[in-house]
Amino acid sequence: MKSILITGGAGFIGSHVVRLFVNKYPDTTIVNMDNLTYAGNLENLRDVVSQPNYRFVKADICDYAQVKKILSDFEVTGIIHLAAESHVDRSITDPFIFAHTNVIGTLTLLQAAKEQWARDRDGCLFYHVSTDEVYGSLEHGGFFVETTPYDPKSPYSASKAASDHFVRAFYNTYKLPALVSNCSNNYGPYQFPEKLIPLFINNIRCNKPLPVYGKGENVRDWLFVEDHARAIDVIFHHGRVGDTYNIGGFNEWKNIDLIRLMIRVTDRLLDRPEGASEKLITFVTDRAGHDLRYAIDSTKLKTELGWTPSLQFEEGLEKTVRWYLSNQAWLDSVTSGEYQRYYEQMYNR
Ligand code: NAD
Ligand code: DAU
Repeated sequence: MKSILITGGAGFIGSHVVRLFVNKYPDTTIVNMDNLTYAGNLENLRDVVSQPNYRFVKADICDYAQVKKILSDFEVTGIIHLAAESHVDRSITDPFIFAHTNVIGTLTLLQAAKEQWARDRDGCLFYHVSTDEVYGSLEHGGFFVETTPYDPKSPYSASKAASDHFVRAFYNTYKLPALVSNCSNNYGPYQFPEKLIPLFINNIRCNKPLPVYGKGENVRDWLFVEDHARAIDVIFHHGRVGDTYNIGGFNEWKNIDLIRLMIRVTDRLLDRPEGASEKLITFVTDRAGHDLRYAIDSTKLKTELGWTPSLQFEEGLEKTVRWYLSNQAWLDSVTSGEYQRYYEQMYNR
């Protein structure tokens, strides 16, 4: 049986990719390798654990010997690499773990793949999942295209940019079959509630303040997570080796407008009077070095590989709010323990 290794499969996007691949490719073994940091949660995959083609291995992408053994034991020919430290605010507090996981971890996987596929690279692929943040901030209009020069501005995006460079260096230098995709902001079920959308849905639910950074004027381009997983599937199977693909939904929202929409939808679903939670909006000190605007041009992916997003944003957001409100046990379990300490440090200083 063919094997595909998915790193970070217990995280937000990784769990959707694992679910899609396990269900869509029953004749392929899908190996989920994750060391279960605060952001990794096997509950995200409860519905796939009993599938015969699913395997979970608890392992650290920075551990060369372990990675090498997994690639060899499962005779892995495809790697979809998502494992990372992913939250910008945490990267501002502790940049070192971001350099370690995102740069050294990616380099470790690349080196292990190079060794594993040294004799026969035919049909092998290293797919690196990256972010639009590597392109920097669009202060004067326009869109990020695949050839936009890198200009990362946070420790998180700097670490992702470095990892992207290593992937391309391995393709160029060692002919490792590799490609990269850069995606805009994802939203949907199973996102850890440190990120804007699940954090605010949870706070509206609990009648807690909604901490809006600065004036709420920053712009993000939002994509439903299952559409990102579908794009990864299309690129993994049909993308050109050595290429880069931008993924995004042409769906820009100013934070404050998105927050007001979330309030309307959540209040309605909680049977509260319209706008009841507007009073929770609290403008707080801006994020240091806060990127003003991201906007992805995903024309290449559409024209070359035929991918388009499946959901309108209002529909996707309502689906997402409904999911968090009907999965309160999941929310309560991930917001206990370490999360409380993080929240205190981040928002009550
Ligand atoms: P996440 O933080 O929800 O999940 C990350 C996963 O990686 C977790 O399961 C964690 O346990 C695992 N992990 C962390 N360090 C590890 C290590 N050393 N070894 C093994 N596993 C480890 O992240 P996410 O939001 O799902 O993002 C996944 C990937 O997609 C990241 O590479 C991120 O940069 C990229 N991305 C995210 C977004 C977004 O909007 N969330 C957008 C574009 C790209
Ligand atoms: O663009 C892709 C990136 O999107 C991914 O690579 C990252 O992994 C992912 O975390 C995300 O980064 P952002 O920094 O854009 O996402 P976040 O949800 O943290 O913030 C979205 C916007 O909301 C941003 O402008 C900051 C703002 N914000 C966020 C939080 C957590 C607030 O105003 N208040 C908050 O409490």
